[in-house]
Amino acid sequence: MLETLSITDNRTGKTYEVPISEGAIRATDLKKITTGGDDPGLCTYDPAFMNTAACKSKITFIDGDQGILRYRGYPIEQLAESSTYLETAYLILYGELPNQHQLAEWTNKITMHTMVHENIKKFMEGFTYDAHPMGVFISTVGAMSTFYPDGKQIFNAESRQKQILRLIAKTPTVAAYAYRHSTGRPYIYPDNDLSFTGNFLNMLFKMTEVKYQPNPALERALDVLFILHADHEQTCSTSAMRGIGSSQADPYSSLAGAAAALYGPLHGGANEAVLHMLKDIGSVNNVPAFIKRVKGGEGRLMGFGHRVYKSYDPRARIIKQTADLVFEVTGRNPLTDIALELERIALEDEYFVSRKLYPNVDFYSGLIYQAMGFPLDMFPVLFAIPRTAGWLAQWDEMLRDSDQKIARPRQIYIGASRRDYVPRESRG
Ligand code: CMC
Repeated sequence: MLETLSITDNRTGKTYEVPISEGAIRATDLKKITTGGDDPGLCTYDPAFMNTAACKSKITFIDGDQGILRYRGYPIEQLAESSTYLETAYLILYGELPNQHQLAEWTNKITMHTMVHENIKKFMEGFTYDAHPMGVFISTVGAMSTFYPDGKQIFNAESRQKQILRLIAKTPTVAAYAYRHSTGRPYIYPDNDLSFTGNFLNMLFKMTEVKYQPNPALERALDVLFILHADHEQTCSTSAMRGIGSSQADPYSSLAGAAAALYGPLHGGANEAVLHMLKDIGSVNNVPAFIKRVKGGEGRLMGFGHRVYKSYDPRARIIKQTADLVFEVTGRNPLTDIALELERIALEDEYFVSRKLYPNVDFYSGLIYQAMGFPLDMFPVLFAIPRTAGWLAQWDEMLRDSDQKIARPRQIYIGASRRDYVPRESRG
C-alpha cells in the first residue's frame, strides 16, 4: 500500500496527500500546496541541510545513533581489520569486493598511473617555501584539469574510468611533492615495487638511500587510516564534489572544490586544529580550565562532535587502537595524555553528554600522523588522499543517476522590495 502524508493547509482548508517513499517525501510535492494566484507553492527551509536528502546512494551507510559505518554493506571494523586501502577503494567505487584477478589488475593499473607530468613539478615550484600543503594540493589538483582535457568527457564511461585511475594514483604523488616542496627537498619519483602507502611513504621520506624500505607497521597503520577515511556519505566536501560535478565540470575541477571544502577546520582541517589545541593546552593540569572555557563558549573542543554521530564515532575507536601500534614503533606522542584526559573529562561532563558530543575521526588521527613524522599542515592532505576514492564514487554515482540535475537550491528572499535607483547626488 502506498504510504502517504496528509497535510491540511489551514490557510485554504484543503487537504493534500503526499507520497512517502523510503522514509522521505519529495520536497517538490509540496509545491502543489498553494494559496492560488501567484503563490509559487510551499517549499522547505533547511539551512545546512539538517534534514534534507539530496540523493539516493548505495555507497556508504551510517547510523549515527548506533555508531555504525558500512561501505557497500561491509562494517568498517571488518574492512579495517582485513582489507587494504586499494581493495576498499575498489569496493567503494564498483560495489563489490574484487576477486584476486580483479584486485591484481586494479592494483597494477593504479601503480601504472602514479607518475605526474613533469610540468606539474615545475608548476608546484612556483609556490613559496612556506605554502600550506593543502593549498598546494587543491591548486595542483585543479590544474590537473588542464593536463588531462579528456576529463571533460564525463558521459563517456571509459574516460571516467581513466580519470578515476589517474586521480587515485596521482593524489599521493601530488601530496608528497607538496610536502617535499615545503621542506626544500628534491621530489621523489614513485617506486612501483612498493604498496600504495609504502610508495607514498617513500615519496615523502626517502633521503639518500638507494631503495626506501617502509616500516611495515607504519605502512599498515597508514593503510588502515586510509580505509577509515575513504568515504563518509554526504559530507560537506562530498556535497561540494556532487554540486560542482552536477554542472558537468571535469572531475579534477570538482575534486579541487571538494578538497577546498575539506580544508576547513570544521571538516578535514579538524585533525590539524586538534594538534594545535593540544599544544596550546600544554599539560594535563590545564585540561579542566580548557574545558571550562569551551563550556563558556570560548572556542570548541576540536575533534569532538559530529553532525551525524550522536555516539562514539566507530572510526575514532579503531584509530585509538591503531595509535597504540604506531607508538610501539615511534614512541608515544607526549600529547596523548592530554587527549586522553580531555576525552575522560568530556565523556563525564554534562555539557558534552547532553549534546551527545563524542570523539570523532579527527581526535586521535593527528597524534598518529605526528608520531609518524608528518608536519601538522600535512594532516588535511592525508585526509584528502583516501577520500579521493569516496569523492569519485559519489561523483560517478551522481552522473549515472537519472534523478539528478544541476544542483541549485532555492532561497527565501528577505531583502528590500522593488525600489527605484537614486542618483548619486541625491543620496543622503
Ligand atoms: N565543542 C564544544 N561544543 C560543541 C562542539 C565542540 N566540538 N561541537 C558542537 N558543540 C555544541 C555547539 O556549541 C552546540 O551547542 P548549543 O546547542 O548549546 O548551541 C551543540 O553542541 C550542537 O552543535 P552544532 O554546531 O549545532 O552541531 P553541528 O552538527 O552543526 O556541527 C561539527 C558538527 C562537527 C561541525 C561540530 O561538532 C564541531 O564544530 N566540532 C569540532 C570540529 C571537528 O572536530 N570537526 C570534525 C568533524 S568529523 C570529520 C569531518 O567531518 O571531517
